[in-house]
Amino acid sequence: MKYPLYTLINFPFFTNATGTLTMFDRKNIPFEIRRVLIIRNIKSSGVRGGHTHHATHQILVCIKGQCDVELDNGIEKKILTLNDPAQGVVLYPYVWHTMQNFKNDAILLVFANTDYNEKDYIRSYDDFLKFVKKI
Ligand code: TYD
Repeated sequence: MKYPLYTLINFPFFTNATGTLTMFDRKNIPFEIRRVLIIRNIKSSGVRGGHTHHATHQILVCIKGQCDVELDNGIEKKILTLNDPAQGVVLYPYVWHTMQNFKNDAILLVFANTDYNEKDYIRSYDDFLKFVKKI
């Protein structure tokens, strides 16, 4: 496997009497950010993702509510529950990822290191399995 199944990042946060500030800073983000996405208004029965990428690295943060992310490199699978705005999971290329079980009006924040390009997507699970056997 060229990439790990996932990596967790703990972002610094600062709480005082009036609230909590979380900092997504360059020091904690292992790539140059090209895109920032927000996914919201998600139905609790909704399923997002269900694909992987050839080149794009992303960091997924659940900044409100909760969701499960399933990570699959073709050999190993892991389900993580995300509910902490100060914790990010790195989604590597050739790791199939699916987000579901959304709770409490979950909002996802995503950082990506590429411009949007549909050609970078692998949307067929069978194609994904063929690619991971090659890398
Ligand atoms: P999609 O990748 O299917 O979302 P998810 O991974 O959450 O299931 O993208 C949904 C739509 O948004 C699709 O029509 C493509 C478009 N889109 C962009 O225009 N730019 C982007 O950076 C992304 C990620 C998606």
